[in-house]
Amino acid sequence: MEVIRSIIELRQAIKRYKVNHMVDSKIGLVPTMGYLHGGHASLMTRAREMSDVVVVSIFVNPIQFGPGEDYETYPRNEERDLALVEIQGADIVFIPTVDEMYPQPTKTKIIVSERTELLCGASRPGHFDGVTTVVSKLMNIVQPDLAFFGMKDAQQIAVLQQMVRDLNMNVEIVPCPIVREKDGLALSSRNVYLSSEERRQALVLSRSLREVKGELDDGKTVTASEVREKLTSMIVSSPLAVIDYVQVLTFPELILLQDDELLADVHDQVMMAVAVKFGTTRLIDNILFMPKEALSLV
Ligand code: PAF
Repeated sequence: MEVIRSIIELRQAIKRYKVNHMVDSKIGLVPTMGYLHGGHASLMTRAREMSDVVVVSIFVNPIQFGPGEDYETYPRNEERDLALVEIQGADIVFIPTVDEMYPQPTKTKIIVSERTELLCGASRPGHFDGVTTVVSKLMNIVQPDLAFFGMKDAQQIAVLQQMVRDLNMNVEIVPCPIVREKDGLALSSRNVYLSSEERRQALVLSRSLREVKGELDDGKTVTASEVREKLTSMIVSSPLAVIDYVQVLTFPELILLQDDELLADVHDQVMMAVAVKFGTTRLIDNILFMPKEALSLV
Protein backbone atom coordinates (compact mmCIF):
# COMPACT_ATOMS: atom_id res chain seq x y z
CA MET A 1 0.00 0.00 0.00
CA GLU A 2 1.29 3.42 -0.94
CA VAL A 3 0.84 6.30 1.50
CA ILE A 4 0.69 9.52 -0.51
CA ARG A 5 0.40 13.06 0.80
CA SER A 6 0.65 15.24 -2.30
CA ILE A 7 -1.79 15.66 -5.17
CA ILE A 8 0.90 15.46 -7.81
CA GLU A 9 2.25 12.16 -6.46
CA LEU A 10 -1.26 10.74 -6.24
CA ARG A 11 -1.92 11.59 -9.88
CA GLN A 12 1.40 9.96 -10.86
CA ALA A 13 0.63 6.82 -8.83
CA ILE A 14 -2.79 6.40 -10.46
CA LYS A 15 -1.26 6.90 -13.89
CA ARG A 16 1.34 4.22 -13.05
CA TYR A 17 -1.40 1.78 -12.08
CA LYS A 18 -3.14 2.38 -15.38
CA VAL A 19 0.07 1.89 -17.40
CA ASN A 20 1.40 -1.12 -15.44
CA HIS A 21 -1.90 -2.92 -15.07
CA MET A 22 -4.70 -2.03 -17.49
CA VAL A 23 -5.59 1.27 -19.10
CA ASP A 24 -9.20 0.58 -18.23
CA SER A 25 -8.54 -0.39 -14.57
CA LYS A 26 -11.56 0.52 -12.50
CA ILE A 27 -10.60 3.04 -9.84
CA GLY A 28 -12.62 3.00 -6.61
CA LEU A 29 -12.46 5.94 -4.21
CA VAL A 30 -13.41 5.77 -0.53
CA PRO A 31 -13.41 9.34 0.83
CA THR A 32 -13.17 9.49 4.64
CA MET A 33 -12.31 11.88 7.44
CA GLY A 34 -10.34 9.17 9.24
CA TYR A 35 -10.78 7.74 12.72
CA LEU A 36 -11.87 4.71 10.78
CA HIS A 37 -14.30 2.09 12.06
CA GLY A 38 -16.23 -0.93 10.80
CA GLY A 39 -18.46 1.28 8.66
CA HIS A 40 -15.43 2.54 6.72
CA ALA A 41 -14.08 -1.03 6.55
CA SER A 42 -17.31 -2.13 4.85
CA LEU A 43 -16.90 0.67 2.26
CA MET A 44 -13.36 -0.52 1.54
CA THR A 45 -14.53 -4.14 1.26
CA ARG A 46 -17.16 -3.10 -1.27
CA ALA A 47 -14.60 -0.96 -3.12
CA ARG A 48 -12.19 -3.92 -3.25
CA GLU A 49 -14.94 -6.15 -4.69
CA MET A 50 -15.95 -3.66 -7.36
CA SER A 51 -12.66 -1.96 -8.36
CA ASP A 52 -9.16 -2.85 -9.56
CA VAL A 53 -7.46 0.00 -7.72
CA VAL A 54 -8.76 1.17 -4.34
CA VAL A 55 -7.87 4.68 -3.19
CA VAL A 56 -8.83 5.71 0.36
CA SER A 57 -8.60 9.38 1.29
CA ILE A 58 -8.26 10.55 4.88
CA PHE A 59 -8.84 14.27 5.28
CA VAL A 60 -10.70 16.16 7.99
CA ASN A 61 -12.19 18.78 5.73
CA PRO A 62 -12.31 22.15 7.55
CA ILE A 63 -14.78 23.78 5.17
CA GLN A 64 -17.60 21.37 6.01
CA PHE A 65 -17.52 22.33 9.70
CA GLY A 66 -19.41 25.41 10.89
CA PRO A 67 -18.21 27.89 13.52
CA GLY A 68 -18.43 26.29 16.96
CA GLU A 69 -18.51 22.75 15.51
CA ASP A 70 -15.94 20.07 16.34
CA TYR A 71 -13.30 20.60 13.60
CA GLU A 72 -10.45 21.11 16.10
CA THR A 73 -11.46 18.22 18.33
CA TYR A 74 -12.63 15.80 15.60
CA PRO A 75 -10.96 12.48 16.55
CA ARG A 76 -7.79 11.70 14.61
CA ASN A 77 -5.42 8.70 14.74
CA GLU A 78 -3.33 8.27 11.61
CA GLU A 79 -1.36 5.26 12.80
CA ARG A 80 -4.48 3.27 13.62
CA ASP A 81 -6.18 4.37 10.38
CA LEU A 82 -3.21 3.27 8.26
CA ALA A 83 -3.21 -0.18 9.90
CA LEU A 84 -6.94 -0.59 9.16
CA VAL A 85 -6.64 0.57 5.55
CA GLU A 86 -3.74 -1.85 5.01
CA ILE A 87 -5.77 -4.78 6.43
CA GLN A 88 -8.61 -3.87 4.08
CA GLY A 89 -6.23 -4.22 1.13
CA ALA A 90 -6.40 -0.68 -0.26
CA ASP A 91 -3.76 0.16 -2.86
CA ILE A 92 -3.30 3.83 -2.10
CA VAL A 93 -4.09 5.96 0.93
CA PHE A 94 -4.12 9.69 0.32
CA ILE A 95 -3.56 11.85 3.41
CA PRO A 96 -3.20 15.49 2.32
CA THR A 97 -2.68 18.44 4.67
CA VAL A 98 -5.13 21.33 4.71
CA ASP A 99 -2.53 23.42 2.82
CA GLU A 100 -2.25 20.75 0.14
CA MET A 101 -6.02 20.67 -0.42
CA TYR A 102 -6.59 24.41 0.07
CA PRO A 103 -3.32 26.23 -0.71
CA GLN A 104 -5.23 29.50 -0.68
CA PRO A 105 -8.67 30.41 0.66
CA THR A 106 -11.33 28.66 -1.43
CA LYS A 107 -12.85 31.07 -3.92
CA THR A 108 -14.78 28.40 -5.80
CA LYS A 109 -17.44 26.27 -4.20
CA ILE A 110 -19.71 23.55 -5.50
CA ILE A 111 -23.21 24.28 -4.23
CA VAL A 112 -26.10 21.87 -4.80
CA SER A 113 -29.20 24.03 -4.52
CA GLU A 114 -31.75 21.32 -3.68
CA ARG A 115 -31.62 18.47 -1.16
CA THR A 116 -29.27 20.60 0.99
CA GLU A 117 -31.56 23.04 2.76
CA LEU A 118 -33.40 20.59 5.04
CA LEU A 119 -32.36 17.95 7.62
CA CYS A 120 -28.65 18.37 8.41
CA GLY A 121 -28.38 21.26 5.95
CA ALA A 122 -30.85 23.27 8.05
CA SER A 123 -28.95 22.69 11.30
CA ARG A 124 -25.49 22.97 9.72
CA PRO A 125 -25.64 25.84 7.19
CA GLY A 126 -22.92 25.52 4.54
CA HIS A 127 -22.05 21.97 5.58
CA PHE A 128 -23.01 20.38 2.28
CA ASP A 129 -21.22 23.09 0.27
CA GLY A 130 -18.06 21.99 2.09
CA VAL A 131 -18.79 18.32 1.38
CA THR A 132 -19.60 18.78 -2.32
CA THR A 133 -16.57 21.05 -2.80
CA VAL A 134 -14.09 18.63 -1.23
CA VAL A 135 -15.63 15.56 -2.89
CA SER A 136 -15.47 17.31 -6.29
CA LYS A 137 -11.82 18.10 -5.68
CA LEU A 138 -11.13 14.47 -4.74
CA MET A 139 -13.03 13.28 -7.84
CA ASN A 140 -10.97 15.64 -10.03
CA ILE A 141 -7.72 14.49 -8.49
CA VAL A 142 -8.40 10.71 -8.43
CA GLN A 143 -10.83 10.48 -11.38
CA PRO A 144 -12.50 7.39 -9.93
CA ASP A 145 -15.04 5.24 -11.75
CA LEU A 146 -16.80 4.46 -8.47
CA ALA A 147 -17.02 6.30 -5.15
CA PHE A 148 -18.29 4.62 -1.98
CA PHE A 149 -20.32 6.29 0.79
CA GLY A 150 -22.22 4.98 3.81
CA MET A 151 -25.99 5.26 4.07
CA LYS A 152 -25.79 6.61 7.62
CA ASP A 153 -25.14 9.92 5.84
CA ALA A 154 -28.07 9.31 3.49
CA GLN A 155 -28.58 13.01 2.77
CA GLN A 156 -24.90 13.28 1.77
CA ILE A 157 -25.44 10.46 -0.73
CA ALA A 158 -28.58 12.13 -2.14
CA VAL A 159 -26.72 15.44 -2.52
CA LEU A 160 -23.66 13.83 -4.13
CA GLN A 161 -25.85 11.86 -6.57
CA GLN A 162 -27.50 15.13 -7.58
CA MET A 163 -24.10 16.81 -8.03
CA VAL A 164 -22.70 13.97 -10.13
CA ARG A 165 -25.78 14.00 -12.36
CA ASP A 166 -25.92 17.79 -12.74
CA LEU A 167 -22.20 18.14 -13.50
CA ASN A 168 -21.99 15.04 -15.74
CA MET A 169 -19.24 13.65 -13.55
CA ASN A 170 -18.08 10.31 -14.87
CA VAL A 171 -18.37 8.46 -11.58
CA GLU A 172 -20.96 6.22 -9.96
CA ILE A 173 -21.86 6.93 -6.33
CA VAL A 174 -22.19 3.55 -4.61
CA PRO A 175 -24.34 3.70 -1.45
CA CYS A 176 -23.34 1.12 1.17
CA PRO A 177 -25.53 -0.11 4.06
CA ILE A 178 -25.29 1.36 7.57
CA VAL A 179 -23.05 -0.73 9.82
CA ARG A 180 -24.26 -1.05 13.41
CA GLU A 181 -22.89 -2.27 16.71
CA LYS A 182 -24.55 -5.49 17.95
CA ASP A 183 -26.88 -3.40 20.11
CA GLY A 184 -28.00 -1.30 17.11
CA LEU A 185 -25.95 1.90 17.48
CA ALA A 186 -24.92 3.10 14.00
CA LEU A 187 -21.13 3.26 13.76
CA SER A 188 -19.76 6.81 13.70
CA SER A 189 -16.38 8.35 14.47
CA ARG A 190 -18.22 10.68 16.83
CA ASN A 191 -19.49 7.81 19.03
CA VAL A 192 -16.23 8.12 21.02
CA TYR A 193 -17.50 11.40 22.44
CA LEU A 194 -20.45 9.66 24.19
CA SER A 195 -20.34 8.94 27.93
CA SER A 196 -21.49 5.43 28.81
CA GLU A 197 -24.90 6.75 29.91
CA GLU A 198 -25.29 8.84 26.72
CA ARG A 199 -24.32 5.81 24.65
CA ARG A 200 -26.87 3.65 26.47
CA GLN A 201 -29.62 6.20 25.87
CA ALA A 202 -28.58 6.73 22.23
CA LEU A 203 -29.76 3.19 21.47
CA VAL A 204 -33.25 4.67 21.36
CA LEU A 205 -32.51 5.92 17.82
CA SER A 206 -32.05 2.53 16.18
CA ARG A 207 -34.68 0.96 18.45
CA SER A 208 -37.38 3.48 17.50
CA LEU A 209 -36.53 3.42 13.77
CA ARG A 210 -36.59 -0.38 13.71
CA GLU A 211 -39.85 -0.55 15.60
CA VAL A 212 -41.63 1.84 13.21
CA LYS A 213 -40.19 0.07 10.17
CA GLY A 214 -41.33 -3.29 11.60
CA GLU A 215 -44.88 -1.97 11.93
CA LEU A 216 -44.81 -0.64 8.38
CA ASP A 217 -43.47 -3.93 7.04
CA ASP A 218 -46.32 -5.71 8.87
CA GLY A 219 -48.75 -3.59 6.87
CA LYS A 220 -49.79 -1.02 9.52
CA THR A 221 -51.46 1.98 7.87
CA VAL A 222 -49.96 5.19 9.25
CA THR A 223 -49.56 8.78 8.15
CA ALA A 224 -46.29 10.71 8.07
CA SER A 225 -47.29 12.74 11.13
CA GLU A 226 -48.15 9.56 13.07
CA VAL A 227 -44.72 8.14 12.23
CA ARG A 228 -43.03 11.38 13.33
CA GLU A 229 -45.06 11.44 16.58
CA LYS A 230 -44.25 7.83 17.40
CA LEU A 231 -40.51 8.31 16.76
CA THR A 232 -40.50 11.56 18.73
CA SER A 233 -42.29 10.11 21.74
CA MET A 234 -39.96 7.09 21.84
CA ILE A 235 -36.87 9.29 21.52
CA VAL A 236 -37.86 11.83 24.20
CA SER A 237 -38.45 8.94 26.61
CA SER A 238 -34.63 9.00 26.88
CA PRO A 239 -34.11 11.99 29.17
CA LEU A 240 -30.72 12.95 27.66
CA ALA A 241 -32.06 13.12 24.08
CA VAL A 242 -32.44 16.59 22.55
CA ILE A 243 -34.09 16.27 19.14
CA ASP A 244 -32.76 18.28 16.21
CA TYR A 245 -35.10 16.71 13.65
CA VAL A 246 -37.38 13.72 13.07
CA GLN A 247 -38.48 13.62 9.44
CA VAL A 248 -40.23 11.36 6.97
CA LEU A 249 -39.35 11.94 3.32
CA THR A 250 -38.73 10.30 -0.01
CA PHE A 251 -35.25 9.03 -0.80
CA PRO A 252 -33.18 10.09 -2.68
CA GLU A 253 -35.32 13.06 -3.76
CA LEU A 254 -35.69 14.21 -0.13
CA ILE A 255 -39.26 15.48 -0.50
CA LEU A 256 -40.99 15.77 2.88
CA LEU A 257 -44.22 13.78 3.08
CA GLN A 258 -47.42 15.70 3.87
CA ASP A 259 -48.65 15.26 7.46
CA ASP A 260 -51.70 13.25 6.37
CA GLU A 261 -49.92 11.24 3.65
CA LEU A 262 -50.14 7.48 4.19
CA LEU A 263 -46.72 5.89 3.92
CA ALA A 264 -48.21 2.82 2.24
CA ASP A 265 -49.48 5.01 -0.63
CA VAL A 266 -46.17 6.69 -1.47
CA HIS A 267 -44.81 5.80 -4.90
CA ASP A 268 -41.18 6.21 -3.85
CA GLN A 269 -38.83 4.77 -1.31
CA VAL A 270 -39.44 6.45 2.07
CA MET A 271 -36.75 7.41 4.57
CA MET A 272 -37.29 8.06 8.26
CA ALA A 273 -34.40 10.22 9.42
CA VAL A 274 -33.46 11.51 12.87
CA ALA A 275 -30.78 13.79 14.31
CA VAL A 276 -30.54 13.92 18.10
CA LYS A 277 -28.03 15.38 20.53
CA PHE A 278 -26.86 13.44 23.56
CA GLY A 279 -24.78 15.86 25.60
CA THR A 280 -22.57 17.66 23.09
CA THR A 281 -22.68 14.79 20.57
CA ARG A 282 -25.07 15.05 17.66
CA LEU A 283 -25.97 11.65 16.21
CA ILE A 284 -27.86 10.90 13.01
CA ASP A 285 -29.59 7.71 11.95
CA ASN A 286 -32.15 6.63 9.38
CA ILE A 287 -34.03 3.68 7.98
CA LEU A 288 -35.63 3.08 4.58
CA PHE A 289 -39.08 1.66 3.87
CA MET A 290 -40.25 0.52 0.45
CA PRO A 291 -44.05 0.94 0.18
CA LYS A 292 -45.93 -1.66 -1.90
CA GLU A 293 -46.99 1.14 -4.26
CA ALA A 294 -43.32 1.90 -4.96
CA LEU A 295 -42.40 -1.77 -5.28
CA SER A 296 -45.04 -2.26 -7.96
CA LEU A 297 -43.28 0.42 -10.03
CA VAL A 298 -39.82 -1.16 -9.78
O1 PAF B 1 -18.67 11.41 5.12
C1 PAF B 1 -17.56 11.92 5.37
O2 PAF B 1 -16.72 11.37 6.09
C2 PAF B 1 -17.23 13.26 4.73
O3 PAF B 1 -18.35 14.08 4.66
C3 PAF B 1 -16.55 13.14 3.36
C4 PAF B 1 -17.47 12.50 2.35
C5 PAF B 1 -15.28 12.30 3.48
C6 PAF B 1 -16.15 14.52 2.84
O4 PAF B 1 -15.26 15.16 3.68
